[in-house]
Amino acid sequence: MLLTFEGIDGSGKSTQIRLLKEHLEAKGHVVHLVREPGHTSISEAIRTILLNKQFHDMTDRTELLLFNAARAQLVERVIRPALDRGEIVLCDRFYDSSFAYQGFGRGIDLDVVRACIEIATNGLVPHKTFYMRIPVEISIARSAEKHLDRMEIAGYDFFLRVIEGYEYLCKSEPHRIVSCDGTLPADVLHRVVFQHLPQLLS
Ligand code: TYD
Repeated sequence: MLLTFEGIDGSGKSTQIRLLKEHLEAKGHVVHLVREPGHTSISEAIRTILLNKQFHDMTDRTELLLFNAARAQLVERVIRPALDRGEIVLCDRFYDSSFAYQGFGRGIDLDVVRACIEIATNGLVPHKTFYMRIPVEISIARSAEKHLDRMEIAGYDFFLRVIEGYEYLCKSEPHRIVSCDGTLPADVLHRVVFQHLPQLLS
């Protein structure tokens, strides 16, 4: 079972993933937690390139390809093998991020984005995706103290387009993507997430 978490920066995904992992492990499941871009050594090396502010000259298509190169390595080396063993994989971001950030945010044609994702995932689709919905103002306030990376400096309008992208995805695939109110307290949000899990797991 592959469960993925999406949302703009500062949406509280990581807390929800950690709570879900603890809950599923307490029920006896084997759970892997991975993040995108990253997790494998190659994908982490690609991540450092992607988030490095010095590479301000990176073209949108280079960015799209690098995110998907990191993804290809993670899918083939970690996610697929774990799923084949019948284990659960929780992913902090997956291909919906490419639609939202590179497609809507950067403005790359969605068919081009889709083609890259297809190569990276070889058709793997999450069983459920949880989108943590927060207003862009909360995201900006939560990241005010942080050192911003190359993606986070993209600006207000960029994040508005990313949110628009996530909303489009939620409407297009309502059975897979659950839109959650990310402003709810973490424990309340966890109960919302848990009640949407496939029956097999709850
Ligand atoms: P990260 O620090 O992991 O952000 P967060 O904690 O918000 O998940 O950095 C990942 C950044 O990369 C984030 O700004 C979203 C972006 N991203 C894309 O633009 N496209 C993608 O396909 C993925 C996986 C991430």
